[in-house]
Amino acid sequence: MNDNLTLLHQTGPETLMGRLLRSFWQPVATSTSIAKGKARGIRILSEDLTIYRSENGTAHLVGGRCAHRGTVMHTGWVQGEDLRCMYHGWRYDSTGLCVEIPAEKQARERPLRIAGYPVHEYCGLVFAWMGEGNAPEFRLPRKHMLEEPGRHIVTIGQEWDCNWFQQIENSLDAVHVSFVHTWGKSTRFDQGITTSVPTLSYEETESGVRQYATRSKDNVRVSDWTFPNNNHVLIPGPQKGDPWSDITIWRVPVDDHRTMRFALSSFHASMGEEARKFREGADFDYNPADDHELILNRHQVPDVSDAQMIAVQDYAAVRGQGTIADRAIENLSISDAGILFVRKIFQREMEAIRLGQPTKAWAPLEEKYELPVPAAEKSAA
Ligand code: FES
Ligand SMILES: [Fe+2]
Repeated sequence: MNDNLTLLHQTGPETLMGRLLRSFWQPVATSTSIAKGKARGIRILSEDLTIYRSENGTAHLVGGRCAHRGTVMHTGWVQGEDLRCMYHGWRYDSTGLCVEIPAEKQARERPLRIAGYPVHEYCGLVFAWMGEGNAPEFRLPRKHMLEEPGRHIVTIGQEWDCNWFQQIENSLDAVHVSFVHTWGKSTRFDQGITTSVPTLSYEETESGVRQYATRSKDNVRVSDWTFPNNNHVLIPGPQKGDPWSDITIWRVPVDDHRTMRFALSSFHASMGEEARKFREGADFDYNPADDHELILNRHQVPDVSDAQMIAVQDYAAVRGQGTIADRAIENLSISDAGILFVRKIFQREMEAIRLGQPTKAWAPLEEKYELPVPAAEKSAA
């Protein structure tokens, strides 16, 4: 595979992409996945870590293994804001500094430490800063759709068994909607949007890429993709006539073979009941990756709600490319303009890192920007 293309999927801490991704706040877990006073082992960006929540309710993220003899830290005790290893009782604070070694009476001149990363909870997700140097201020794009008074936010975290970058490319591939989202079962999404192959255009913004997929003058689908791994789109509400919901999804590498997909769905203030039904619905916890065998080997369509079907369709396409898509076998076409566009941006940013130069100072989008609902859907509503 061409080296430039290989760099796109490699996310370990020493790789150019891994360093680039670590220079952004990244979601690492859902808030509900860590109970007070408990610890859990997680893997993010090829690094094994321990996430825990103090008795006071503050989340912390430290290294996966004890500096003493390397047992995993998540089996230890949460004490105050600290974590104590279960093997010989070494105690670490939330920055990963070893603050107590029970067998040693005197503090060491050069204290030991394990990894420790700053954490910030927002909208039901735990974000961490895993970059070099001091953490920048926590800022995210599209805050208005998450923070507008009355909005109902539903948070999902699930692991997919394939590389993150083919999922990024799928976000910048508006043509897939016309095919992938008609696969298996028709939903209100394909009825609202997928009448034909669109004309595409892309522009690089201060925060990422805005993409326009024009199918007719009344059917222009815009999505706002934020560098390096978040996409913001609209999907239909549960019933005809419901306002469309904003959904913003991060794809965070667990390692090169697995990806956490963290999604925040923002329902309009008038849709509290629909948001509750979605959150409490029978297939709320459904993860298409658990149905890998059914979807990809038996080619059957799981019996899930429309909202989940959209994820099933995307999963079938991107996991169908393999665990890590082989870009050496591609023959790109005019419809792949977005894929080429986004690859060039990543290659430019990785080259800056390789040369030790500053990367682009990506800014959050502060303006209130509404994505348009296709006219076909509005008139049907
Ligand atoms: S391995 Fe953790 S205290 Fe010994
Ligand atoms: Fe899709």
